[in-house]
Amino acid sequence: MLASVTDPSQSAVRPAQGGARSRTLGLAVYGLGTVGSAAVRILQAGAADLDAQHDLRFSLRHIVVRDPLRPRAVDVDPVLLTTDWARPLDDPTVGIVVELMGGLEPAGEVVRRALRAGKHVITANKALIAADGAALEALAEAHGVTLRYEASVGGAIPLIHTLQGTLVGNRITRVMGILNGTTNFILTRMADDGVTFAAALADAQARGFAEADPTADVSGLDAAQKLVILARHAFGRWVSADCVEREGIEGISAEQVASARAAGEVYKLVAEAVLDGGTMRFRVAPRRLAANHALAQVRDEYNAVQVEGDFAGSLTFIGRGAGGEPTGSAVYDDLVASARARVGGVRTGGVRGGRAGAP
Ligand SMILES: NC(=O)c1ccc[n+]([C@@H]2O[C@H](COP(=O)([O-])OP(=O)(O)OC[C@H]3O[C@@H](n4cnc5c(N)ncnc54)[C@H](OP(=O)(O)O)[C@@H]3O)[C@@H](O)[C@H]2O)c1
Repeated sequence: MLASVTDPSQSAVRPAQGGARSRTLGLAVYGLGTVGSAAVRILQAGAADLDAQHDLRFSLRHIVVRDPLRPRAVDVDPVLLTTDWARPLDDPTVGIVVELMGGLEPAGEVVRRALRAGKHVITANKALIAADGAALEALAEAHGVTLRYEASVGGAIPLIHTLQGTLVGNRITRVMGILNGTTNFILTRMADDGVTFAAALADAQARGFAEADPTADVSGLDAAQKLVILARHAFGRWVSADCVEREGIEGISAEQVASARAAGEVYKLVAEAVLDGGTMRFRVAPRRLAANHALAQVRDEYNAVQVEGDFAGSLTFIGRGAGGEPTGSAVYDDLVASARARVGGVRTGGVRGGRAGAP
């Protein structure tokens, strides 16, 4: 049982109607950029419902940023802003740390220290989780807390929650999808407008769908990291992103896209993890799909994932795969799940509880 009134990471405890004990959970948010600002806005918007429906309140205690003077896309009390990333970790009233800075360090150190300090951690950081997920999960387990990262894959689409909590009678044999919105936007523009890769990339950058350095997206690395995270929850095993055979979309020409179109096909950057007997195979590569394939119809910055279970058959999930609000929505799901687990004393998170996948 996790929840306890003596737990140092649970702060103020106030009596609720009916004699039950209700709780206010202290939060530290690391990063107030695209995702951080949206997550805090969603937190503010959801506060009344959370209180009314679950008798829970979040209290934002610290927000860590690089530049406290930068204008923000959300109204927050400026006294919460700090550049000192170590300080919130020493605050015993902080029970949940939300890491939305990105990058391997100092994000990794923040997550490790938070877990060691007995704080639940939520992150959207696919690079960190793909690189170090196994060790971080073990650390969380050792300290009796949860590590959640729904927002690291597929934006708003609840993929990890679904794999953890449903389809439990199934052995998952395949996960296949479009996991990178930037490349999907580029390929959609190339197909619709007949433009080159370079022109479609420039369009994506102008609209904020691609970063100034798009290498991780267009090379397939970002999709490979997400595939590793999904495989963990589909097959029950961590593998390195190096196990993913990977090809990006940089080499696709306007002529190739036009020829696919003439044949009734479209190019998509497809990530696929397959469990075949005792063998797992991972691949991210551009593929020509028939225009009526479910993934072929996923356009622009949208993501889609097909999950195949041996009894359930194929299920397809489609949604906004990136951007502040879709990703912030997934962060908020994890926040509420962490808070409910803490109050209810229920350990959730971790790997799916159904039939074992990989050997
Ligand atoms: N953007 C998306 O659509 C999306 C989707 C899924 C997952 N993610 C993941 O979400 C995470 C955040 O992405 P983002 O797009 O929100 O990034 P972002 O807009 O660049 O925001 C990063 C935030 O972290 C702060 N920060 C960065 N390094 C810091 C440091 N060393 N010390 C203190 N503060 C630091 C920045 O502070 P300043 O503002 O002061 O510079 C900024 O507020 C990443 O792991 C990313 O992979 C993003």
